[in-house]
Amino acid sequence: MNGQVHTAQRHDSALKHVTGQALYIDDIPEPPGTLHAALVLSPIASGRLRRLDLSQAATAPGVAGVFAAGDIPGHNNIAGPGKHEPLFAEDEVEFAGQPLAVVVADTLDAARAAAERAVIDIEPTEAILDIATALAKQAYVQPPSTILRGDPDAALKAAPHRLSAEFSVGGQEHFYLEGQIAFVLPGEDGDLVVHSSTQHPTEVQHVCAEILGCDFNRVTTVVRRLGGGFGGKESNASWVAGAAALAAAKTGRPVKLRLPREIDMVATGKRHGFDYRYTVGFDEQGRVLALDAVLAADAGWSLDMTPGVLARALTHVDNAYWIPHVRATGYGCRTNRQSNTAFRGFGGPQGVVVMEDAIDRIAHHLGRDANQIRALNFYAAGRDETPYGQKVEENHLARCWAEVKQSSDVERRRAEIDAFNRTHPILKRGLGLFPLKFGISFNLPHMNQAGALVHVYTDGSIRLNHGGTEMGQGLFVKVAQVVAEVFKVDLDRIRPSATSTAEVPNTSPTAASTGSDLNGWAAWEAANTIKQRMIVFAAEHFGAAPGDIEFADGTVRIAKPGSNQVVGFGELARLCWLGRVSLSATGFYKTPKIHWDAAAMRGRPFFYFSFGAAAVEVAIDTLTGESRVLRADLVQDCGASLNPAIDLGQIEGAFVQGQGWLTCEELWWDNEGRLRTVGPSTYKIPGSRDVPAIFNVTMLENAPSREATIFRSKAVGEPPLLLATAIWTALKDAIAAVGDHKTAVRLDAPATPERVLAAIATLKK
Ligand code: MTE
Ligand code: MOS
Repeated sequence: MNGQVHTAQRHDSALKHVTGQALYIDDIPEPPGTLHAALVLSPIASGRLRRLDLSQAATAPGVAGVFAAGDIPGHNNIAGPGKHEPLFAEDEVEFAGQPLAVVVADTLDAARAAAERAVIDIEPTEAILDIATALAKQAYVQPPSTILRGDPDAALKAAPHRLSAEFSVGGQEHFYLEGQIAFVLPGEDGDLVVHSSTQHPTEVQHVCAEILGCDFNRVTTVVRRLGGGFGGKESNASWVAGAAALAAAKTGRPVKLRLPREIDMVATGKRHGFDYRYTVGFDEQGRVLALDAVLAADAGWSLDMTPGVLARALTHVDNAYWIPHVRATGYGCRTNRQSNTAFRGFGGPQGVVVMEDAIDRIAHHLGRDANQIRALNFYAAGRDETPYGQKVEENHLARCWAEVKQSSDVERRRAEIDAFNRTHPILKRGLGLFPLKFGISFNLPHMNQAGALVHVYTDGSIRLNHGGTEMGQGLFVKVAQVVAEVFKVDLDRIRPSATSTAEVPNTSPTAASTGSDLNGWAAWEAANTIKQRMIVFAAEHFGAAPGDIEFADGTVRIAKPGSNQVVGFGELARLCWLGRVSLSATGFYKTPKIHWDAAAMRGRPFFYFSFGAAAVEVAIDTLTGESRVLRADLVQDCGASLNPAIDLGQIEGAFVQGQGWLTCEELWWDNEGRLRTVGPSTYKIPGSRDVPAIFNVTMLENAPSREATIFRSKAVGEPPLLLATAIWTALKDAIAAVGDHKTAVRLDAPATPERVLAAIATLKK
């Protein structure tokens, strides 16, 4: 049998991906009459919309319609019922790039040309363009929230040592290869089928219905695959679909809206940039006694996912470390910029950097080795409760740490690097280690649920559907492996099918790395329901006991005493059908044990933690500020991996994406608040040359999850992105070598050549 769980299987679309045969939404054949859409965007970051004259756009060649806020039959709201974020600006314009209207025409060129003819009159008002200004004006998208344990003020006062620091990290563009797109096909009575490149088909359904003022049952979202999402298609796909649905409903014709790269970058939200300020108290040994931290996130113009991102940042401030007294306060700063959103790690990466920075400073302060101080502060027996009240169970920190230190030969290389730095005045090398602890589950307990729908046909082929979306991460093959395992059939008997709100309703987004945890169990439930029916039928049909029916190798054995009959899985399916047994079932799963008090910021938000460790070596050129990652050694806990081939790819990809965030990907807005990095020429994502020359990735062996996760596996989508924090630590180490490691270095991210040079300059003063 081929394809059971815990085996390395290629992505179900791997060959189609590399031969160009995978169908993305823009590849779906267009029915006659299809219209193409283009957006009209605000050129101004903040102002009052005095007049929007679309008459010249409406009369441009090929144009079939122009629609703005006033044309929306339902609610001009993309945030879901009960909240308010407009699809198209009404009176106020809140960022440069905000959608004002949509134009549809016979061709894409005609639509885009017509959109240019919109006459926009905005009276500018004072814009808030950075976190510091928002903090000063107390401009927030939500009230500040705090995680508090113990008495940090008293503990800081009493601590033998204390130090304070500030730094910041930038945001990050998702740069999915397939831009945002929706293709809406109107049916009878105003029903709509919405093909959307979304991580959240149900939200697309809800937002389209909200905009059109119709029942949810009129809208069916269909998602076969995304050309990458990375969190950027969790909420942003919904408004893109909503704009297309509006035009389709108004014209009665199919409408496709695909954002070109520069519009996509200007109009959609990104990873939140953060400013930090903290004070840490510690003893002679470097034991952390207290932390008081302020995390200020650039939320952009609207709420979007900021509550969740901030909550995850605050619940990851501790990272791997036991801190007896903690105050961590998060501010969601309202700025006149794109509304920042989910991005792989979802605030976790922006949380863990605080303690990583603090420990480097503590080490410098005490003249000790930072990595010893890291290990000294790890969660351990008796020191195992997080500041928000969840116990750190099944703690693999020490093990991951020991493995990465050993495999990367840290001690020897530390000495080598120091020797290199003594003899090389221009090039400097640095080493950075990072321990990982990442919580798995959505912080909102109700989101941790999933459904599946499995059909067995009479030839024994199986159709699999579930609420998760495939964005390249390999969810479909993993869930198919689960079903193959239940029925003991070959993987190629199972056909994953497009996610659809008509097949599995009321779904959660595919996010928070929970896709295979949730949908794997839901599919297991569905498949097992059918299997049990088949067992009962087979026992009766063959005159055996249910316990005598065994599924193995694509067959079913009736192992009753005295006979040993074997039928093919398909043959039994056919017999079941003749016997009028249902071969279709739904499955449902909800994550156990989790609870969260969002007001008190306490509870058990995570079903379990995923662990890991990284050791990274970098080199910098102190004349140009350029840097290279020379070597990275990673250990990642995947539990009992469902598919080691997929997980390896996820670890490598996540790490390099984190590398981009911390080193080369810089978002740049001009003084008017207009984003000017709008494509690959100005916004640098890592290329193949940037991948560490030596890149050793291992999965923690013999570490099945102790919790009842699907076949004891663990989530992998996001945690390894945080391992890239070791690059930032290594860069600080290389820079500190310029000053003979006498002082700690402030290095804001992304650590572009300019920032590296600026950090070096402060040491030379
Ligand atoms: N991998 C690929 N190839 N493409 C993606 O868009 N998204 C990441 C991660 N890995 C992504 C990816 C993000 S942000 C998440 S939350 C998870 O995949 C979601 O999928 P999972 O829950 O099935 O792991
Ligand atoms: Mo991932 S940021 O949770 O989509």
